[in-house]
Amino acid sequence: MTRMELKVNGVPTSVDVEGRTLLVEMLREKLGLTGTHVGCDTSQCGACTIHLDGVAVKSCAVLASACEGSSVTTIEGISGEDGDLHPLQAAFRENHGLQCGYCTPGMIMSGLDILRRCGPDISEAVIREQLEGNLCRCTGYAGIVKSIMEVARGV
Ligand code: FES
Ligand code: FES
Repeated sequence: MTRMELKVNGVPTSVDVEGRTLLVEMLREKLGLTGTHVGCDTSQCGACTIHLDGVAVKSCAVLASACEGSSVTTIEGISGEDGDLHPLQAAFRENHGLQCGYCTPGMIMSGLDILRRCGPDISEAVIREQLEGNLCRCTGYAGIVKSIMEVARGV
């Protein structure tokens, strides 16, 4: 075990990990942040997407020990201080962007990264292309794409 230090959702955190511990395992099993889901464990589905130093990554594809000194944001870290939903979460709720919800944390974290990178004029086609690493078995994606588009436009 190695003790590592990082920030998780803005909070300085010390945690003991093994060299083989994945970031998603550390978040879920050591820190209890179970909003980050595991869908495939092989970098296919995107359910485990979080932000590492501000950039969306699949946390099943990152060793926890590689995150020493980094800043990690999970789905638990994006709501307001009073617990209000983030505008993208609210848009998903409004537009039926989720059904079973399993993919949703990863979709939201990827959606925020898409918004950061692509700005307010992003097209539906680009959103769909950018979401290729996130799989949803339920919604058909229409509500997800509409939600990201609405937040981009400031609707
Ligand atoms: Fe990480 Fe599927 S669990 S991509
Ligand atoms: Fe069920 Fe996306 S809402 S997998």
